[in-house]
Amino acid sequence: MNRKVTVVGGAGNVGATVARAIATKELADVVIVDIADTKAAGVALDILQACPIDGSDTRLIGGSDYAATANSDVVVVTSGMPRKPGMSRDDLLNVNYKIMQAVTEQVVKYSPNCIIVPVANPLDAMCQAVFRLSKFPRERVIGMAGVLDSARMRAFIAMELNVSIENVHAFVLGGHGDTMVPLPRYSTVAGIPITELLPEDRIKAICDRTANGGAEITKLVGTSAWYAPGAAAAEMVEAILKDKKAIMPCSVYLTGEYGVKDQFLGVPVKLGKNGVEQIIQIKLTADEQAALDKSAAAVKELTTVIGV
Ligand code: NAI
Ligand code: 2OP
Repeated sequence: MNRKVTVVGGAGNVGATVARAIATKELADVVIVDIADTKAAGVALDILQACPIDGSDTRLIGGSDYAATANSDVVVVTSGMPRKPGMSRDDLLNVNYKIMQAVTEQVVKYSPNCIIVPVANPLDAMCQAVFRLSKFPRERVIGMAGVLDSARMRAFIAMELNVSIENVHAFVLGGHGDTMVPLPRYSTVAGIPITELLPEDRIKAICDRTANGGAEITKLVGTSAWYAPGAAAAEMVEAILKDKKAIMPCSVYLTGEYGVKDQFLGVPVKLGKNGVEQIIQIKLTADEQAALDKSAAAVKELTTVIGV
């Protein structure tokens, strides 16, 4: 395969799921890097052994040596502590920032032209850390959160209306935290906004469940989710490698768009071979803008703590 994707933290739950999805879709060869080096080698071997069944020629290797990652097209960064029940994503701030420092240095050294997709939490602050540390242009640091949060909202809408998931689109903007901003006006079933299909109280319940989607799973499982997060990150990788020009909500560095300056926040972007190819600006109501501003302020509090 002439494409290479590295998954840092790929011996863990989310990373292994991303690696497996990339292999299943035969998007690229995959290098799994993890401080748990023998586990990384084992996970890579296990996924490789699924490839004959999947009919995929993806080659996978795993270990802790970044030399194998050289010249990756995309590097997904899932290395980081996950939440335990009762913890917020923000509780992970300092420990995961240290991990981002170690990881970014190696990623930049071996793949100076790659696109980085941070996944570790707290997501928007970790994106900003990677962006500052890598000194990459903003087009090449793209955080995964909105695709996951929107997928959760889509699932809840489909369940509520008993319709095919294929008919449902949803948009969740803002930071990946309690202040995220689900947008019912831009969430549709076969093109019809859900505001036309559901009463206000049901829409509020869907939005609340979406914002608590991560905590709901953490409480049930004992650690944070991985299937949907892994699928979401792989969808972003696919859009980039196939130059799909797909529009999806991602955490990107804003320089005034949506009234937000010099920080990462989830907004709709066009993803293609160059990474972020366009930031799509949609019209928000005063209430929606206020919610986005509140979310931006919550992210800013975190980036101020770690000084990025
Ligand atoms: P996990 O504990 O299963 O995996 C993390 C992996 O990172 C482990 O294998 C660990 O050995 C590795 N690691 C730690 N430090 C490292 C370093 N310096 N270099 C290389 N590898 C290192 O955790 P899980 O469930 O996979 O979650 C990973 C991160 O993703 C967490 O921070 C979690 O909160 C976040 N997350 C973010 C989501 C989002 O929507 N952005 C969704 C789900 C999880
Ligand atoms: C999630 O939303 C914890 O960010 C992780 O599942």
